[in-house]
Amino acid sequence: MCKRFLDTVHIGGVTIISKFGKFRCGLLVNSDSSFGAEVHGVDWLRPIPKDVVRELVRLQGRYAVLIFRNTGLDNARHIAFAQQLGKDLEINPFFFGRENDRIGEPFLWDVGNINRDGTIVAPGQRRWEHSKGNMLWHTDSSFLRPRAKYSLLLSHGNPVKGGSWTHFADTRRAYAALPQSRKDELENLVVEHDLWHSRKLAAPEAFKEPLPHEKKLVPPVCHKLVQTAPDGRKTLYLAAHAKRILGFSLEESQKLIWELIDHCTQPQFVFSMEWLQGGDMVWWDNRQSMHRANPYTENMTARDVRRATVNDDGPFALGVSEDDVTIHIQVERISTIFRL
Ligand code: OGA
Ligand code: MN
Repeated sequence: MCKRFLDTVHIGGVTIISKFGKFRCGLLVNSDSSFGAEVHGVDWLRPIPKDVVRELVRLQGRYAVLIFRNTGLDNARHIAFAQQLGKDLEINPFFFGRENDRIGEPFLWDVGNINRDGTIVAPGQRRWEHSKGNMLWHTDSSFLRPRAKYSLLLSHGNPVKGGSWTHFADTRRAYAALPQSRKDELENLVVEHDLWHSRKLAAPEAFKEPLPHEKKLVPPVCHKLVQTAPDGRKTLYLAAHAKRILGFSLEESQKLIWELIDHCTQPQFVFSMEWLQGGDMVWWDNRQSMHRANPYTENMTARDVRRATVNDDGPFALGVSEDDVTIHIQVERISTIFRL
């Protein structure tokens, strides 16, 4: 399910010259070079001017994943930049208790493996079990209302000994590669996204049943499977949080969902970013990509990565409304009855 592991390969670069200066984009491996770009030339020491933000958003819309090296950003400037990209940032739900939070910043999720006392997160901790879900291909916060638009993951401190990677898959090119008959079948499907589903897939014992406060924090949300990406191309919106397809049994749903995830994560749609140093940052669009982390291991050195997440403020941010879902289920039921 999540066995693919590709090294980052640079296959050249282009220079994008705009009136705001030169952005050198080292394009990362993929067959048409339209997914993932390493962007140089941004001055992270100062607030990012609005016109540069606009240019970056344009690049983001095209490449879906932008990588910036050695930015020197701190928490405050990381958050400030994320706030330039949307109306609201996601607030960390502090699943593990505010008192255990090392960063202490509600706009940042601590995605690393360091406890508050500086020790490394270890098996047996709920947080260790929770982090296992990040190894499955996923899109951030598809289970929240509003869902996430962008994620900006920034590394701090020393690089992990032995290396560290994050892997990305292009769901737009994956959709385009499907046969038309498959596209037609998928067009109107609605998917329920549930954080506790992916936690259970990754850690069946620990997350057999989420704790009552966990369940209350994040009830499931429904979204259309086939969506339109910012540049107008169609894309598949699904990943490990995708639990049920409305009108399908859980078993049928999971079969189709994982067939599609496997399709999207074939090597030709995937590249892997290597984290080289503190200050490296990757900014991805959850609406048109999937990603996954490398497994955390018991002997891994400290990995300090923090994520700011920009809420979707577009028309599909809240997913399919309850009324639409009810209608959808009724239509499915009626068509099932008629098939009988
Ligand atoms: C995340 C995430 C991957 C990683 O921050 O949402 O999935 O490599 N991170 O830590
Ligand atoms: Mn993630």
